[in-house]
Amino acid sequence: MNIFFISLGCDKNLVDSENMLGILHDNGYTITDYENDADIIIINTCCFIHDAKEESIETILEMAKHKETGRLKALIVTGCLAERYKDEILNEIPEVDALLGTSAISEIISVIEKVLNGNKYTCFTDINNQPVLKSKRILSTGSYYSYLKIAEGCDKHCTYCIIPKVRGNFRSRPMEELVEEAAYLAENGVKELILVAQETTLYGRDLYGRKALPGLLDKLCEIPGIEWIRILYCYPEEITDELIDTISRQPKICKYLDMPIQHCSDRILKLMGRKTSKKDIVNIVKKLRDKIPGIALRTTLITGFPTETDEEHEELLRFIEEERFERLGVFTYSKEEGTPASKLKPQVTAKVKRQRQKELMKLQQTIAFDISASQVGRILDVIIEGRIAGKDNVYVGRTYMDGPKVDGYIFMESDSELMSGDIIKVKVTGANYYDLIGEIVEGSARE
Ligand code: F3S
Repeated sequence: MNIFFISLGCDKNLVDSENMLGILHDNGYTITDYENDADIIIINTCCFIHDAKEESIETILEMAKHKETGRLKALIVTGCLAERYKDEILNEIPEVDALLGTSAISEIISVIEKVLNGNKYTCFTDINNQPVLKSKRILSTGSYYSYLKIAEGCDKHCTYCIIPKVRGNFRSRPMEELVEEAAYLAENGVKELILVAQETTLYGRDLYGRKALPGLLDKLCEIPGIEWIRILYCYPEEITDELIDTISRQPKICKYLDMPIQHCSDRILKLMGRKTSKKDIVNIVKKLRDKIPGIALRTTLITGFPTETDEEHEELLRFIEEERFERLGVFTYSKEEGTPASKLKPQVTAKVKRQRQKELMKLQQTIAFDISASQVGRILDVIIEGRIAGKDNVYVGRTYMDGPKVDGYIFMESDSELMSGDIIKVKVTGANYYDLIGEIVEGSARE
């Protein structure tokens, strides 16, 4: 029986998708790349912001059309949108046969069986459960990098965020389980491990009574085959000296940190329910740069949060100009029902939000240009992603400063064949806004 699987949303959701793919594979289902060949379509959805909800709903409607052709027997919706809008989906999209909640992914086979027996079915368990997964993940990222989800859920309750309501409380996965999974990934060719969770810096506090990310990192660094470890989603207030020391001491850990700050105005940060002030953010940025020379800091901002004034937006622009984050993403605020921020007044209009986002991204473009230009002449390790389509000897890769999908790339020519996941030395010879151009250092690529 053929299954066409669509994974939407974030990398944490992608890990769930890969776990479900593993279960499906172990139970004899075939994964097809063609929706027209599918007997069953599974869509793992997202509901974080308006655009993500829209994408999820449009995808469900698009896939529902295959019911008319007669081949598609079951349309199953899983993930965050299913968890948040169970009733609405079942009532308004009759083509959907089953819904599966975020903590019930291990039940995918029984859901399929029930649906194939002609029943509509929903499967939701307590969102604070940790599903027991016996099958190995099937990687969808290519074999050379992979996300490792170290915890689920979130206790921070930022006032704009719906995630605790669909993913539950923060709960870490046991360290032995993570080390075992990472070793399995390494045996299967993974060189770059990317640690994700709603919040990675709190790892271990629920299980071990202390923040245990440094200890976990030390153990992961011992795994043969893992060459790079990248850490995403660090809350600024949870970054400890011990973590900074571990990142700076361990050569396998990329000198890169994703640390969402969302804003810099103390009034807005407070309204957002964030636990940091502008001063705290300035201090941690300085500390990270002092203790880990060359570190690439990535952050994200929310612009147009309710009540944000022109002056506060200007303050944010000045802050970004001063702090000069190497990598930056800007989201417009999305009003999510059920969150405290949705009740704040006045809300900022869509036009103003977009304008503010544009101004922030334009400013970041000039910063990124300078940062990229300053890399020219450096010799950097580069992980190869692949060959550029249609150009036989042009390859694309990433430096330690760039995470997959969200950051920039480096392009280089090579007459000898490079494989995805090769790590080679490249001298940076040119720069674009977000991307670099380089030349392979002789002798560093396979002959
Ligand atoms: Fe991720 Fe979207 Fe759910 S961002 S945790 S898939 S709401």
